[in-house]
Amino acid sequence: FHQTPVIAIDGPTASGKGTVATLVAAQLGFHLLDSGALYRLAALASLRYEIAPDAADDLAALVGDLHITFREGCAQLDGVDVSNEIRAEEIGNRASAIAVHQAVRAALVARQRAFRKEPGLVADGRDMGTVIFPDAPLKVFLTASVEARAARRYKQLIQKGFSANMDDLLRDLRERDARDSNRAVAPLKPAADAKLLDTSALTIDQAVDQVVQWYQAQ
Ligand code: CDP
Ligand code: CDP
Repeated sequence: FHQTPVIAIDGPTASGKGTVATLVAAQLGFHLLDSGALYRLAALASLRYEIAPDAADDLAALVGDLHITFREGCAQLDGVDVSNEIRAEEIGNRASAIAVHQAVRAALVARQRAFRKEPGLVADGRDMGTVIFPDAPLKVFLTASVEARAARRYKQLIQKGFSANMDDLLRDLRERDARDSNRAVAPLKPAADAKLLDTSALTIDQAVDQVVQWYQAQ
């Protein structure tokens, strides 16, 4: 039994998990785990070390040895800030490809659970409520239409200085949704006790308020 509260926020790509999780954590004074960043860092490292996305055991060994730090919203790999680099769609797609392997996922479990510290944690990803923190007192599953998500991701990529194409993005999002939802290990799906929140027509503040309200109402 674990006393330290966790708010698990899962959902498909660009549903708003990261943004909502960051703001909820700030409001409650909780720690933050962006689990997708771990998979993205692993993807970046696999590119650097030229490990193929299907080499499950080599990837798991790599992931076990990764030297990662998160500081003030920045993600570092081997002491170098790669926060911007890991946001490329190419890295997101590769992260999704390596995340299908059980050995890779297993190598990240303890690292993720170590983020659970007082006074509490907000964790976002795909399997926070189902696998990593099954005892989380609040589980939220964020959704939004694929069109709304593609439009958000488009805006976000342009703002970060990446080039983007709406048709390619829609295709990639659908492909990533299908792969994340249909994989055998830890597929993207709401936990049985998750609260569903469709953010298609919500502002960020409305989504954040709803999550905080659910947490405080417990
Ligand atoms: O973490 P995830 O991929 O689920 O999504 P995100 O990076 O938090 O959000 C994708 C983009 O959608 C961000 O630029 C958010 O500002 C935006 N967003 C929005 O416009 N309305 C919402 N209700 C939630 C997020
Ligand atoms: O920002 P976006 O929602 O597109 O992706 P992300 O949360 O940064 O995660 C990138 C990829 O890592 C996802 O497409 C998933 O395949 C994988 N992932 C996962 O399998 N489990 C998690 N807890 C988080 C991410």
